[in-house]
Amino acid sequence: MVIAVDGPAASGKGTIARALARHFGLPHMDTGMLYRAVALSMFRFGGDPGSEFEAVRACDGVAQIDPTDEELRSEVVSSIASRISAYPGVRAALLERQRSFAAGADGAVLDGRDIGTVIAPHATAKLFVTASPEVRARRRVAELLARGMPSHYEDVLIDIRARDERDSGREAAPLAKAEDAELLDTSEMSIEEAIAAAIGLVEARVKAR
Ligand code: DC
Repeated sequence: MVIAVDGPAASGKGTIARALARHFGLPHMDTGMLYRAVALSMFRFGGDPGSEFEAVRACDGVAQIDPTDEELRSEVVSSIASRISAYPGVRAALLERQRSFAAGADGAVLDGRDIGTVIAPHATAKLFVTASPEVRARRRVAELLARGMPSHYEDVLIDIRARDERDSGREAAPLAKAEDAELLDTSEMSIEEAIAAAIGLVEARVKAR
């Protein structure tokens, strides 16, 4: 069983994907971390995010980044990740790693922007998780505060809107709901409700097959 979870920044897709992986006993990949690792590597070593050539070269360093590094979640790295993920060369360099994870014998849950459309178009179940930009900005502020990184709601909201536009507007594998994906709007849901809804949608999809 392969479950594809896509959606914009701070929609809750990561939490939902981890909960689905636990519930169904599947390995999980947060594909945004790959783009963040490339971004962090460029940030640390002074790469120019305006250069596709340098961004593609930074893809080689992904394996060296510690996935628990808090800096991966910082706003500056998020913003570089959003920029470099628009390069077709970067997407191509990270494609195989994601496809082979999805093709693993035990099945998989992957979350990102293009899992249902590009990485795993034949996934058993696809979810497209969204929430309003205001709700997502509030959640991100709370999350950053919990990590000891206080931020301003207005700044975060502007940033989320800018990222949405870049992620959806780019030509290479833009953020988009796959035609056969279930839409899950979590704006009015608690995280527990969103997880329960996601499990219900996946189970319904499995039964219908
Ligand atoms: O999900 P996230 O916020 O950690 O993702 C970081 C950036 O990486 C985001 O701006 C879009 C990009 N991304 C992507 O283009 N494709 C994916 N499958 C996952 C993330």
